[in-house]
Amino acid sequence: MWYWLYRTDQHSLQAPLVFDLYQKVFRKRHIIDSDILNLWDSLKKSDQAIHQQYGAGSLIDSKEYSVFKIARYGVTSPKNASLIYQFISYFKSKNVLELGSSIGLHSAVLARNSYLDKLVTVDRQEDLIKIAKYNFEQLGIENIEVVHDDVFKYINNAEASAQKFDLIYVDADHSYSALMRYNDILPRILSEGTSVIIYDDINWSPDMRKGWNEISRQFRGGLILETYQFGIMIYDSGLQRQHHVINY
Ligand SMILES: C[S@@+](CC[C@H](N)C(=O)[O-])C[C@H]1O[C@@H](n2cnc3c(N)ncnc32)[C@H](O)[C@@H]1O
Repeated sequence: MWYWLYRTDQHSLQAPLVFDLYQKVFRKRHIIDSDILNLWDSLKKSDQAIHQQYGAGSLIDSKEYSVFKIARYGVTSPKNASLIYQFISYFKSKNVLELGSSIGLHSAVLARNSYLDKLVTVDRQEDLIKIAKYNFEQLGIENIEVVHDDVFKYINNAEASAQKFDLIYVDADHSYSALMRYNDILPRILSEGTSVIIYDDINWSPDMRKGWNEISRQFRGGLILETYQFGIMIYDSGLQRQHHVINY
């Protein structure tokens, strides 16, 4: 309930950066390329079976599912994919990390952003990774590194090898404990300057909401924006801490 009471729109936004983001990121819709949409449509009809368990935070039951269920219900919607695409454009993010690849449709949308040099996408399910790689080949996309790994193992290794990302999109394990672990490690693999972490599904469960409340309250790195779907942390030492709820 509080979300609807406290949300912000263009008439209530004050800070210039937030207003600019509202106009250029939240209100500007990216039109997804037709070849990606065509592939997406064809996958919605695919009866190819998937034999492993889907991640927490999915609308799909985890015992039995197929590609068409993922393409219909398990992929970030075009509207939400557009938002992340626009964040990449706004901050000119070159190195992007996606935790939770699934069948790669969302990764494909992001990879077409001309500011992006490379997208690393990580998933632990081999069946899904194979389909994602096949989809990237079909679309002629070559700037995606697909990593078959547990996301926590991956981010720990990334920290150990001093890898840095300009934007990190978190769409894998959606649980309170996972959120705490992400929040502990991810800030250490962010690039210097302005960088962004976007958490998906912050209202998917009371547990996720509780986790988001905690980590956003603790956050001192800059600006916090949230929509019903996403919790967004913009790290920039030059920014004063502010927290806005955006109607998207
Ligand atoms: C909601 S789907 C990702 C959807 C994708 N980002 C998109 O929009 O198309 C979540 C994915 O996270 C993966 N996942 C969940 N927990 C994971 C973990 N601990 N390590 C690696 N992958 C994980 C699942 O296998 C699943 O494919």
